[in-house]
Amino acid sequence: MIRIEHLKKEYPNVTPLKDVSVEIRDGDVISVIGPSGTGKSTLLRCINQLEKPTSGRIWIDDIEITDRRCDINKVRQRMGMVFQAFNLFGHKTVIENIMMAPMDLLGKPKQEAYDTGMRLLRTVGLAEKALSYPDELSGGQKQRIAIARTLAMDPEVILLDEPTSALDPTMVGEVQAVIRDLATTGKTLMIVTHEMAFARAICNRVFYMDEGGIYEDGAPEQIFDHPRRENTRRFVRRLKVLELDIESRDYDFLGMASRIEVYCNKNQIAPKLANHVQLAFEEVMRVLLPQLETPRVQAVAEYSEAAETAEWLIRYPGKSLDIPGAEDQLALTVLQGMTEIVDHTCDDGAPLPNLLRLRVRR
Ligand SMILES: Nc1ncnc2c1ncn2[C@@H]1O[C@H](COP(=O)(O)OP(=O)(O)OP(=O)(O)O)[C@@H](O)[C@H]1O
Ligand SMILES: [Mg+2]
Repeated sequence: MIRIEHLKKEYPNVTPLKDVSVEIRDGDVISVIGPSGTGKSTLLRCINQLEKPTSGRIWIDDIEITDRRCDINKVRQRMGMVFQAFNLFGHKTVIENIMMAPMDLLGKPKQEAYDTGMRLLRTVGLAEKALSYPDELSGGQKQRIAIARTLAMDPEVILLDEPTSALDPTMVGEVQAVIRDLATTGKTLMIVTHEMAFARAICNRVFYMDEGGIYEDGAPEQIFDHPRRENTRRFVRRLKVLELDIESRDYDFLGMASRIEVYCNKNQIAPKLANHVQLAFEEVMRVLLPQLETPRVQAVAEYSEAAETAEWLIRYPGKSLDIPGAEDQLALTVLQGMTEIVDHTCDDGAPLPNLLRLRVRR
């Protein structure tokens, strides 16, 4: 168990952690979320003693790790950290990276460190890369190696700080799969991640950080579906929707397509529905933009997991238009095949008065 009491961390210009008290039970799998700068990394770094707290105390079981007399290396053996930027040694092979700490810090014999390393490489699917150098691997592979290296110390607690946020979207899944397995082993995990569907799938607890501490602490269903406090509600809502602003007829449609793809992946939207979300957006833009005097559109996508549908809310200026328009047979056919218009309203007071609501089906 980790017990934190009145933890405070002050930097010269900011105090990200004002007064944090919390208990983390053995086997808890916790996702840490919150706006940038709210101290998520600082909290993990204080727990791992990479940062010295300004005040407050932290215990692991009955050892107070904030006590000056505490042997921090012993504590670190029980606790591993995985960083966004992998931090592998470039001049060592993959297997050497993994064998190093168990040999140097735990005094493991070479053969044993090698056997454990190879076993771990097999569990992360990378045994064939044992003799490669980190530079020869993709980002997703490097992160899986970094996780294997952490596991080689057999820690009870693993802290992961945005382990997938530096990765190309195509590589997020393979790293998440490794962490997903890890979450079933009974180890205590704390993961800073904004991948909501992933957090829901593996966590029993979510910390929402804001205003100098853990602002709301609850089960994923509470935090993601029924947040109790205002800031949590606002933040979670932003996680669930995708907002696209278009300000030109020559908008970057590939850039938008990739943001829609990332959004669909994050929410684990089924491929067919994701494809329709993409197509519906492109089709509406193709019909709408040429008709607008001022080409300004705001499009918001929102996925409903329960209904397995997604909605596009599309706001545009000027007078209300007939969309898709009876004369555009292609758009009509495409859109009718996968969407229905929920409503199309006009609020003259709004900067973008027209609101078209489309429900996208599988
Ligand atoms: N070593 C440092 N020296 C001074 N200020 C720091 C230091 N590390 C972090 N900070 C400041 O403390 C605050 C919290 O930083 P922290 O990295 O913990 O936030 P975070 O929640 O992890 O944000 P992000 O989501 O951007 O990673 C920020 O304002 C940051 O600028
Ligand atoms: Mg951070």
